[in-house]
Amino acid sequence: MKPFKVGIIGVGNISPIYFEAGRKFDIIEIAACADMDVQRAAARAQEFGIPKACSVEELLADPEIDMVVNLTIPNAHADIHLKILEAGKHAYGEKPLATLLEDGRLVLAKAEEKGLRIGSAPDTFLGGGIQTCRKLVDEGWIGEPIAATAFMMYHGPEIFHPNPDFLYQKGAGPLFDMGPYYLTALINLIGPIRRVTGSARITFPERTVTNPSNYGRKFPVETPTHIAGVLDFENGAVATLITSFDVWGTKTPYIEVHGTEGTLLVPDPNTFGGPVYIKRYGHTDFAEVPLTHGYTENSRGLGLVDMAYSIREGVPHKANGELAYHVLEAMHGILQASQEGKHYELTSTCAKPAPLPMNFLR
Ligand SMILES: NC(=O)c1ccc[n+]([C@@H]2O[C@H](COP(=O)([O-])OP(=O)(O)OC[C@H]3O[C@@H](n4cnc5c(N)ncnc54)[C@H](O)[C@@H]3O)[C@@H](O)[C@H]2O)c1
Repeated sequence: MKPFKVGIIGVGNISPIYFEAGRKFDIIEIAACADMDVQRAAARAQEFGIPKACSVEELLADPEIDMVVNLTIPNAHADIHLKILEAGKHAYGEKPLATLLEDGRLVLAKAEEKGLRIGSAPDTFLGGGIQTCRKLVDEGWIGEPIAATAFMMYHGPEIFHPNPDFLYQKGAGPLFDMGPYYLTALINLIGPIRRVTGSARITFPERTVTNPSNYGRKFPVETPTHIAGVLDFENGAVATLITSFDVWGTKTPYIEVHGTEGTLLVPDPNTFGGPVYIKRYGHTDFAEVPLTHGYTENSRGLGLVDMAYSIREGVPHKANGELAYHVLEAMHGILQASQEGKHYELTSTCAKPAPLPMNFLR
């Protein structure tokens, strides 16, 4: 099987796991990497034995490269995606698809115009934990999903990140940084969203780095840091989503999906593993469910691998642009609803991605 030749643009913190995916999966071969900091690209190439490190322009002009992974910072996602597609290559990127909604639309339109694929993280929903949940929902173990809760709450990344400023700028905050994991997991289990509403606040207009390497440095906050959203799904289910960098502690679960016949406890959607618990009507307590699917360790890049196989087989890929755009619209919708004091009706929809086969590459 001839692999797809893949280039990586953006070789920062998250990139090693993608370079490792190139070693693990036969369908992709990482042939080149680039970064606005070319020296950093050269260092990564050496670290992972990649034959070519170059500028972004050189990588995009390389006729050997079929597909490019965009691991730049969120504000650069749309611009780099558009350049990849314009260069005639399939694009796959980290979340979110874009920061602005109109940019997300431009990216989808460019992929359509060029007849190329656009894929986007998160792909954690393809992991063994959430795929087990998906199988339980699909097989009716909780009946019809009617409600869900999803909570991502802590006191912000300045605890562990030496330079967390970018996570408090517009297009970031807990909703845009972590929301994609929660919303993608919910859509994978319940289906597309019809409308959203919410309330959001900036609780602390100035924050202080508490990571030891920059301890005490103060920086401003430009985007809401506590966002309480309500989501109405097309199937009638109603979910509550809270994302917060403002709270000191919580005992809330990550995600619960409630059905007409039971409740499912979904594992952390920022991971690939379990545990998964279910409580069905007539039972007094939750029972742990053994995971039915593989990829329970950090398998970032699985969405890219699925995209590569899907191109070859001519079927839709799972971590796709429509899903990522729908997630982006839901996040913008929650903030808009908070500003305007009324529900936001989504204009986009997406198909529930097909489940990952239990024997995928095993
Ligand atoms: N770090 C994590 O744990 C993590 C986890 C999941 C997802 N992500 C996502 O991965 C993406 C990258 O995050 P990161 O932590 O690796 O960031 P990072 O800042 O460590 O790395 C980003 C890299 O992209 C390069 N870059 C930025 N703009 C560019 C441009 N226009 N052209 C070329 N190169 C450019 C930078 O020079 C840098 O090397 C983000 O979208 C983030 O949300 C990160």
